[in-house]
Amino acid sequence: MKFSSVALAGATMGLAHATPLTERAGVTDADVLNYALTLEHLEAAFYQEGLKNYTHADFQKAGMQDPFYMNLKETASDEQQHVKFLTKALKAAGAKPVEACTYAFPATDVSSFLALGNVLEGVGVSAYLGAAASIMDKTYLTAAGSILTTEARHSAYLRAALGEAPAAQAFDNPLDFDEVYTLASMFIVSCPESNGKLPVKAFPALTMPSMAPAKTGSKVELMAAGGVSMDTKDVYAAFITVTGPVWAPLASTGNGKFEVTIPEGVAGQSYVVLTKGNKNASDDNILAGPAIVEVGEPNGPMGMGSQCSGGSSGSMTSMTSMPSMSAWSSMAMPMPTASKTMSSGSMPSMSASASASSTPVFNGASGKSMSGFASVFAALAAVAAFLQ
Ligand SMILES: *[C@@H]1O[C@H](CO)[C@@H](O)[C@H](O)[C@H]1NC(C)=O
Ligand SMILES: *[C@@H]1O[C@H](CO)[C@@H](O)[C@H](O)[C@H]1NC(C)=O
Repeated sequence: MKFSSVALAGATMGLAHATPLTERAGVTDADVLNYALTLEHLEAAFYQEGLKNYTHADFQKAGMQDPFYMNLKETASDEQQHVKFLTKALKAAGAKPVEACTYAFPATDVSSFLALGNVLEGVGVSAYLGAAASIMDKTYLTAAGSILTTEARHSAYLRAALGEAPAAQAFDNPLDFDEVYTLASMFIVSCPESNGKLPVKAFPALTMPSMAPAKTGSKVELMAAGGVSMDTKDVYAAFITVTGPVWAPLASTGNGKFEVTIPEGVAGQSYVVLTKGNKNASDDNILAGPAIVEVGEPNGPMGMGSQCSGGSSGSMTSMTSMPSMSAWSSMAMPMPTASKTMSSGSMPSMSASASASSTPVFNGASGKSMSGFASVFAALAAVAAFLQ
């Protein structure tokens, strides 16, 4: 593994020297790689913190029997290698790699840590999948693909360990840059000034008070920030899938709360957005979200040998008892109602809507900037809300 990752780095860098970073409609491959690096920094920091916070014995006590801990350490190491790899590739191509930010993860014990890790891995898969169409250089595409498949293994492993179907459906759901940033920004407190600005912005948060797995046909409650209510005309709900939006019945329950019925055709880690109109779920039409909804029946701790003991108070048998699932929603609640832009430069805001189109679309509008202070405040308020 070490060898192949080094070899791949060499190949990519060799090619990068020969070919200038390609650009399509203003989004360079460097932007895409820095976007990926932003996520890898977050994941690497998350595992590093978790492995510092919780011991091998803590995982065993929580029902995660060997070799789970060893595999988790491998996962943490994979994320660190992704960071190193993308950093090197960007440097080799003459671009400035972003550095790690300061994060706040609402994890307080092994079970909330693993539940959050599970969701983060799923978002990672969706992020690489959604970004794939924006990569111009084939060498980078292969490199990004090799990270994507690894993230998918992490995701499947954690899903199975936590009693979810490892691969709940035939096609994974792609998320575009702004959708991913909406989710990731909930954990980012601040970033170094020196980080170049990425052409991404966050939509108003959409959260689920209960993040228990939902079945097809059942209703889940959503809360929208940003003053979105049923009084807002033409509000619809769409699940994001690779073949385009799957529209779902939506009803208002007042005070910015909605009830969405889980439609046929979505399973596993799914993403729902509120949109203006029911024709198009591209960035221009998103009012809030995405919210993460796990769709499906809990599997029980199947197929992972003795990894999950189950039964005990610390068992990992059901996501319904996962504090961190609601932690994500708690984290989300105090988030800004206006879009915020990530540090950034002169780049226009980008909407490479993976679900609607394979061509990046520029709307030229940069979201309203949230001041550094306000963003720190929002993240701290979120953490405080969770800890209470
Ligand atoms: C690790 O522990 C610190 C201190 O309690 C906490 O702030 C942080 O969120 C924890 N991180 C994870 C990933 O568990
Ligand atoms: C959705 O809207 C965007 C612009 O807002 C447009 O570029 C795209 O083609 C539309 N997609 C469909 C399927 O109509």
